[in-house]
Amino acid sequence: MAQVSLKKLVKRYGALEIVHGIDLDIKDKEFIALVGPSGCGKSTTLRMIAGLEEVSGGAIEIGNTVVNDLPPRDRNISMVFQSYALYPHMTVRENMGFSLKIAKQPQSEIDKRVNEAAAILSLEALMDRRPAQLSGGQRQRVAMGRAIVRQPEVFLFDEPLSNLDAKLRTQMRTEIKKLHAKVQSTVIYVTHDQVEAMTLADRIVIMRDGYIEQVGTPDQVFKKPATRFVAGFIGSPPMNIVEGVVQSGAIVFANGDKLPVPEQFKAKVKEGDKVAFGLRPDDIFPTGHGLHSGQAADVHELTLPVAITEPLGNETLVFVEFAGREWVSRMLNPRPLASGEQIKTSFDLSQAHLFSVETGKSLAV
Ligand SMILES: Nc1ncnc2c1ncn2[C@@H]1O[C@H](COP(=O)(O)OP(=O)(O)OP(=O)(O)O)[C@@H](O)[C@H]1O
Ligand SMILES: [Mg+2]
Repeated sequence: MAQVSLKKLVKRYGALEIVHGIDLDIKDKEFIALVGPSGCGKSTTLRMIAGLEEVSGGAIEIGNTVVNDLPPRDRNISMVFQSYALYPHMTVRENMGFSLKIAKQPQSEIDKRVNEAAAILSLEALMDRRPAQLSGGQRQRVAMGRAIVRQPEVFLFDEPLSNLDAKLRTQMRTEIKKLHAKVQSTVIYVTHDQVEAMTLADRIVIMRDGYIEQVGTPDQVFKKPATRFVAGFIGSPPMNIVEGVVQSGAIVFANGDKLPVPEQFKAKVKEGDKVAFGLRPDDIFPTGHGLHSGQAADVHELTLPVAITEPLGNETLVFVEFAGREWVSRMLNPRPLASGEQIKTSFDLSQAHLFSVETGKSLAV
């Protein structure tokens, strides 16, 4: 069993505190994604779990054992980095077996584990090649193979796919998902890429400036972002978020444009409150061209000028001008639109979010 717990975990470099006492309980066999902007402390946290960075405060438990002072090799973890640094003079087979050889495992055991890992990762045909004779994706698979042979209870990944092109990333993403299903280890996976996090993880941890902003399933963090920051970070294209003031049942934006206070928030705001109004591109659509067309619960319709369109084939992103800025909307079954054309636009207010401008917290809770 390898549940992982972070208890008031702190990292300081000299006087500078980077990770500010975070708490997190990761279940055995769970796939956790750590996401957040550059510099928020993802790699530092992962490296503390791996034992590559000293802990400045609090504790890390792996399988109910405090590992703060255990060296990396005794933590029953394997880490896969962004730069997978295979040994260039060794074959794939030798690269994969190297850590077991160092650990003085018998050759028969090394062969058995390497062959198993090769089968899981479909590397059998490449075992006698050297890294220079492999594609980027194949090298990344070998790096994972090297991690698997150690049969760790916990896998740590730090942006393992960020050196690959978009197509390979998508392929490898699927492979990592299959891999997790097969090896049944606990996985902690750091990524910038929220799509990667959404598709892979059982739960997503959103970090910001050394704090945890929210922990939840992909569905929870997408549908119920706890803060304005999470709302803007999860989802692509990002949620439209615009600040306004509550006046006579409406949210009035800086240029005087307004939207009704959504029904579900009427009891949560009062006259004069400063709020940030959020609506995802899926919930704004040229009337009749939406995901929710015909079934949206609380549609508010406005006629707005088109700023620009981005056709994507099956859908078009339409940027409409409202409240002094551009709002991105999604148009299904698109028809051509000219810049400046006035179009009827539906805002599904039943899907709206409101955040306090002061605290950044969602008013939904
Ligand atoms: N050895 C160090 N000394 C001082 N500060 C450091 C050191 N290592 C990292 N930091 C700082 O700690 C913060 C967190 O770094 P970390 O590498 O954990 O970020 P990250 O979330 O992984 O970012 P990225 O997405 O860019 O990889 C950064 O501000 C970084 O500059
Ligand atoms: Mg990093």
